[in-house]
Amino acid sequence: MSNTLGPREELFSGPTPIQEMWRLRAHLGGGPRLLVKRDDAIPFGFGGNKVRKLEFVLPEALAAHADTLVTLGGLQSNHARATAAAAAKLGLRCVLIINGAPQNRPSGNALLDQLLGAQVEYISSRGERAGAVERVMSRLQSEGRKPYLIPLGASTPTGALGFAAAIDEMIAQGVRPDVIIHAGSSGGTQAGLVAGVVRNGLATRIIAVSADDPAASIASTVRGIVRDIPGCASFDGEIAVDDSMVGEGYGLPTDTSREAQQLLARTEALFVDHTYTAKAAAALIAHARDGRFSSDETVLFWHTGGQVGLFA
Ligand SMILES: Cc1ncc(COP(=O)(O)O)c(C=O)c1O
Repeated sequence: MSNTLGPREELFSGPTPIQEMWRLRAHLGGGPRLLVKRDDAIPFGFGGNKVRKLEFVLPEALAAHADTLVTLGGLQSNHARATAAAAAKLGLRCVLIINGAPQNRPSGNALLDQLLGAQVEYISSRGERAGAVERVMSRLQSEGRKPYLIPLGASTPTGALGFAAAIDEMIAQGVRPDVIIHAGSSGGTQAGLVAGVVRNGLATRIIAVSADDPAASIASTVRGIVRDIPGCASFDGEIAVDDSMVGEGYGLPTDTSREAQQLLARTEALFVDHTYTAKAAAALIAHARDGRFSSDETVLFWHTGGQVGLFA
């Protein structure tokens, strides 16, 4: 299937729901209209933002006649799990380069990686990633395989097209929020959302809430990706990244992310993971409480998935 953004290998069809968060809003004492876009409910491989990116990256792999998808991430990487799921669905092999130690009894995403038949190469730290990628790629080539490397988080200009398309999807649902707030890390999600907004001439502000890196570093990555997206070469607008919720670091909950996790579950029956989406939800709640949104605004929390991490 193809659209104006480029070829798409469809892993799911139809828009993800956009729902009102009435009870959360009431709990916060009013304020802006609060919506949630349910990419956690994407009905493929436990969903999440990586599925949208992979839909645009996979045609490149297929065009290169790849027989093996190779990617990397942490032990509980949602991206690694989504890539393993896509490989299974397309009849390709999958090799995951995972920093972390193998578990005796795999849980969460690691369990799903195993069920999906991915081959896992463990490395002990993020610093070993580049060397391991080179080693694995040349080993597979010497075995006569055709590996295709999907970079970290599929955060390439091609992967980001999945989120530019998601803005088209949201507009077709009749929703044009003033603000979109979501979890960010490798930058592809925000880059695609920004590109989608630019391409459609919307005034929507996109705020990424960092799961790990400083705001300036994520913003500069995002800007680079946006400018490589068709129609956005001269983009010079603001890239808003909030790094105030990181706390002690990647994957480590904070008091506010714990509170947000409980509040979303108890008011909206929504589940957010402590690595990404609980920190984004914590920022949404903090901004609403501080009056940083005006009460006539519509704020959309883009739920990027990650719920498998609750079972790690
Ligand atoms: C659940 C979830 N939300 C958000 C993100 C961040 O998205 P991006 O890497 O595109 O910035 C990720 C992955 O890094 C993720 O797994």
